[in-house]
Amino acid sequence: MPSLAIVGSQWGDEGKGKIVDYLAEEAHVVVRFQGGNNAGHSVKVGEELFKLHHLPSGILRKGKLAVIGNGVVIDPGVLIKEIDELESRGVSVENLRISDRAHVIMPYHRLLDGAEERLREGSKVGTTGRGIGPAYSDKASRTGIRMMDLVDEALLRERLGFMVPLKQRHLEVCGDGSRLDGDAILREYSGYGRRLSPFVADTGAAVRDALKRGRNVLFEGAQGTMLDIDHGTYPFVTSSITVAANAASGSGVPPSAIDDVYGVVKAYTTRVGEGPFPTELLDDLGRSIADKGGEFGTTTGRSRRCGWLDLMVTRHAHALSGFTGLALTKIDVLGGLGELKVCTGYRLDGKKVPAFPADLRVLQRCEPVYRRLKGWDDLDTATMEAVLRKGFSALPAEMKEYVRFVEKEMGVPVAMLGLGRRRHEILDMRKRKWKKR
Ligand code: IMP
Repeated sequence: MPSLAIVGSQWGDEGKGKIVDYLAEEAHVVVRFQGGNNAGHSVKVGEELFKLHHLPSGILRKGKLAVIGNGVVIDPGVLIKEIDELESRGVSVENLRISDRAHVIMPYHRLLDGAEERLREGSKVGTTGRGIGPAYSDKASRTGIRMMDLVDEALLRERLGFMVPLKQRHLEVCGDGSRLDGDAILREYSGYGRRLSPFVADTGAAVRDALKRGRNVLFEGAQGTMLDIDHGTYPFVTSSITVAANAASGSGVPPSAIDDVYGVVKAYTTRVGEGPFPTELLDDLGRSIADKGGEFGTTTGRSRRCGWLDLMVTRHAHALSGFTGLALTKIDVLGGLGELKVCTGYRLDGKKVPAFPADLRVLQRCEPVYRRLKGWDDLDTATMEAVLRKGFSALPAEMKEYVRFVEKEMGVPVAMLGLGRRRHEILDMRKRKWKKR
């Protein structure tokens, strides 16, 4: 079965959207399986820039089934705005399907996200403030509202009758003085339900059916391994499972249905929000990488912290997701910086650290061990054209060295290399390509 999952191997923002958008050309189905509108993908099509938060990147390619899977949490007002924006720019959303099992982000989730962050004072997570954590908390507490409730007004009224008083008390406990108006929420959200109901379906069955018919299915992850609720730098993580295993569970297909897993690795590291970051560059170099790489959040506009590529992080991601290929992105951003560094491991009290530590106090004390590699000049237009025509051999020798070094250290081939912002500026070196049907 021709299926491929794409997951982030760092702290998100690895450039997954562009990779998914490129691969979506060959896919019949693109499925998002976790996260919510905390994610943000920018995709440049010609001169037009599209910023997506909820919709799978595949929506920008005509005729693809674009699925929001059961593992996603959905803010319906935001999703409708995104649909309206795309339609006003001539992009059809008729092939969108939303899982009836996906959970809904309610207004009290957004309020609680802010209130809980304020309570954390010295130990803020630095969330996106979109209500993601509280929505997933309700899902785990079995008090969540699902898309199937949203599209059924009677069911929604019943669910809100229980939830609104409960959340009012929760807000009060957190010191938030907001008053929840149950009737107004019911009016607003049942309106969203009516608008979205044509898209709501048993998407797991649709994806399983597509797989059975041999269709090309692309599973689109959001965030990255280090933000995974179980395996990331807890508690500075998001509230969903971001590793490849969830491509199955969050879409409603068996794990055996996933043939390939690509880990998206940015050629350097970034992180938004709080939490330890061993290879962070707090100097002018870090700022110049941020400027050159456009490292400002699509969702919140916050500037991203930047640092050298950290192979302890990406090896941890590979150990968890079993990459069959890497998509190494934004390597062009490292052009013109002179000598480059790559972290190959950590040392603690003079000893090699065997695996990525669970304890952040330990992580904070780890010292990165660096390998120095020669830099290269920015790619000029002629070199870019030669690379896209002739392939890997036309790259500057030092860049080839960087790519080979990453492959060797990871033990995974680089299948795709991101060389620039535009849609076609990707070097496609996949061994196993999908058949076009
Ligand atoms: P939340 O997902 O809004 O709860 O935020 C939890 C943590 O995950 C914060 O550090 C966020 O900055 C981070 N985060 C969430 N989504 C993304 C993303 O798409 N890219 C990068 N960081 C993210």
